[in-house]
Amino acid sequence: MVDSLNIVILAAGKGTRMNSKKLKVLHPFAGSTIIEHILQTSNALNPDKVIMVYGHQGKQLKHHLSGEEIHWVEQVNPNGTGHAVQCALPLLDDNAKVLVLVGDAPLIQVKDLTQLLKYPSAVLTAQVSNPFGYGRIIKNMDGFISAIVEEKDASPEQRQVNEVNSGIIMTTAENMKKWLAQINTDNAQGELYLTDIIGLAHKEDKSFKAVQVEDQRTINGINDRVQLAKNEAIKQQMLRENLMLQGVSMRDPDSVQIRGFVDCGEDISIDAGVILEGENKIADDVSIGAYCIIKNCTLGKGTRIAPHSMLEEVVTQGDCDIGPFARLRPGTKVATKAKIGNFVETKKTTIGHNSKASHLTYLGDCEIGDNCNIGAGTITCNYDGVNKFKTIIEDEVFIGSDSQLIAPVTIGKGATIGAGSTITKDVEAEKLTLSRAKQRTIEGWQKPEKN
Ligand code: UD1
Ligand code: CA
Repeated sequence: MVDSLNIVILAAGKGTRMNSKKLKVLHPFAGSTIIEHILQTSNALNPDKVIMVYGHQGKQLKHHLSGEEIHWVEQVNPNGTGHAVQCALPLLDDNAKVLVLVGDAPLIQVKDLTQLLKYPSAVLTAQVSNPFGYGRIIKNMDGFISAIVEEKDASPEQRQVNEVNSGIIMTTAENMKKWLAQINTDNAQGELYLTDIIGLAHKEDKSFKAVQVEDQRTINGINDRVQLAKNEAIKQQMLRENLMLQGVSMRDPDSVQIRGFVDCGEDISIDAGVILEGENKIADDVSIGAYCIIKNCTLGKGTRIAPHSMLEEVVTQGDCDIGPFARLRPGTKVATKAKIGNFVETKKTTIGHNSKASHLTYLGDCEIGDNCNIGAGTITCNYDGVNKFKTIIEDEVFIGSDSQLIAPVTIGKGATIGAGSTITKDVEAEKLTLSRAKQRTIEGWQKPEKN
């Protein structure tokens, strides 16, 4: 009886062709790293155990994935994929199904793996136009695999076969132990090939089933930075198509980048050059203008973001206007009908219903009530060089242009601040407060002359 799933991820390869100090599988990929995409796919299958086979620079990998529930196995002196799985054998559960994944193929789809797991023993394969470099799938009459032959070991006829091994193989722990004990290095590369177990199974009448992927691109491995970029492009296309099918319109899809996860509603429009990073939640009817960067935000229904704006950890209630050229930093909360216009920067700031900061303003550590108008050039002076302080602006306040509010300070409800004021003390409600020198003209003043 097979009653649990063990996943073995092979990541002991050196990744020499990346020419990098960084381990290959730790290179950035669609918002995280190559290996994290594989772990995500692997976790979606609800495995009872995930075993990572590491080698070169294993410390880097362990450190990066320290938050994950992983059983680590070192492959000392790596000598092939068969050797790698042999290293993991002592950790396998007795009654487990064992799924072997390769660490450098991040496009693998959960639906294909789910298909694979339906058989007692199976290999994930793909029909490709150029099979060069891959192990070829040799099938017998009834469609089962009689052998996998590596490129370097294949005869000219075998090289004609264009069904190839993805590198992903599944069988029981019992079979794995039995067959891996019988493989040898008698091949062109002098390595222990995992793929040799397929021939052994066939001899015992326990042949592996070939399960073809739906989309041949998903078996692509990453060996150098050119392949990294190509695979990123494929992944981006998949992510965009997924969003479009959920109700997002993109004016120029190829220019949009999704580096993370998006939870989206319907009738969302995204213009050219937008980058969505981290975890974003975007409600119905949101529009995002060209060249905006949106990171870890929750955008309420009907939020409008004009071009060239940058938002990070921002929450909008909906039906508000942001940008163009606005920078909303973490902790910004925007209520309905509010407006944050061009060249306005906010941080840890709440903007109430129908309040507006339309131009050239810095609002930091600030609470703004409803129906306020923050004039152009207003600055909350929240920092004395050592500590940060809060500014509170109550409902219906009007702040005249080019004012500085020296925190901590509270502007009472309905107050008006005259333009060009430097406010250092709390301001009374409903009154006009201003602090500026009286305008005067100096009689008899003469322009300086050049010596
Ligand atoms: C392997 C398969 C080939 C398949 C191809 C798909 C074998 C013998 N060949 O070939 O049939 O078409 O993948 O991409 O299995 N690794 C280790 N330890 C090792 C060697 C490799 O952990 O000693 C890891 C690598 O880090 C990599 C994976 O195993 O993630 C595949 O190894 P790689 O050397 O790329 O295998 P291929 O020669 O491409
Ligand atoms: Ca490979």
